[in-house]
Amino acid sequence: MSVATLELKPIAYGRDCKTYLLWDAATKQAAIIDPRFDHVARYRHELAALDVSLKYCIDTHTHADHLSGSDRLRNLTGCAIVMSAASKSKVPDYKAADGEKLNIGEHELTLLHTPGHTPDSMCVFDGSRVYTGDTLFIGGAARTDFMGGSPAQLYESFRKIEALGPDVEVWPGHDYNGHEHSTVADELEGNPHFKADKNALITMHKIKGELPANMAEILSFNTEAGLPESKIVVPADIAGYGVPGKDFTLLDSRFADEFEAGRIDGAVLIPLPEIHDRWDEIAKLPHPVVSVCRSGVRATMAMMTARHAGDQEWVLLEGGMQAWQKAGKPMVSDTGKTPDVITSKFATGGSCAAGGGTCSAG
Ligand SMILES: [Fe+2]
Repeated sequence: MSVATLELKPIAYGRDCKTYLLWDAATKQAAIIDPRFDHVARYRHELAALDVSLKYCIDTHTHADHLSGSDRLRNLTGCAIVMSAASKSKVPDYKAADGEKLNIGEHELTLLHTPGHTPDSMCVFDGSRVYTGDTLFIGGAARTDFMGGSPAQLYESFRKIEALGPDVEVWPGHDYNGHEHSTVADELEGNPHFKADKNALITMHKIKGELPANMAEILSFNTEAGLPESKIVVPADIAGYGVPGKDFTLLDSRFADEFEAGRIDGAVLIPLPEIHDRWDEIAKLPHPVVSVCRSGVRATMAMMTARHAGDQEWVLLEGGMQAWQKAGKPMVSDTGKTPDVITSKFATGGSCAAGGGTCSAG
């Protein structure tokens, strides 16, 4: 077996979530760890630029703070989705036991079951680097206060990471402080969670944090399968739906200030936090519903509410108003200024870290 290291491209989004693209230069096989739904186009661009084919999507655990891109990548590339055997998700093609290996060319990825943050948390070890998901962060640790988390299990999982050896590089699933990677030795030296004894770790993790925003919609998407391609449209498709408000509904789930700054003419504003409570009103709107927000994340969450209500006549405008603007399509505004897609203060997340930090997107 070759022990040479797989090629690695870390993909970061500001200072929070991390995705890792790994590939074997010889066979052009690739794997991606913890992809996001709203960045699938970017991954496909990276895969094409590298001329590699995606063999595996690995979700290190059931994510509660962002929409996983695995299901869509599978729809578009035919890759297999791998999660832990402890996962209750219906999405993966394969659920791996502790210590199972995946081949990428002649390389092996070892999947380590590392419960603590969630019961189904895994780390991925490529022989010299460990991708720790939300189990271990640089200088910090995963929160263990929701979704069946356990600080006692986290302690045991830390020891499994420690046993990989001091020189092994640590590449986390989040970083809220601008770090990229460290080593097991660095974490043993400076990480108060990683170096704590079991009782101290349990004490440190007694604090309860807020649940991630829109957690129910995110979990629905991540555990029951995402959206088929037939439910995803692009700006050029919208004209084919007819007149908004008469033949169909353009439902914009952003906040009022974003809607007023720039929207598609004829769109209806129902901010995501109000979708559930205003369901009777939404049910009476002309169908189908084209769901739109800034980037597509909130609009997808709105679709999860619709799915749970049994309303299947929704489609997603991929890339949201950002894609609409980029395509040069017309917008209207109420501000007296040139219509624009303004940056949202909306946070999808909540933190996966013990002690705070947030993931933002919209
Ligand atoms: Fe997490």
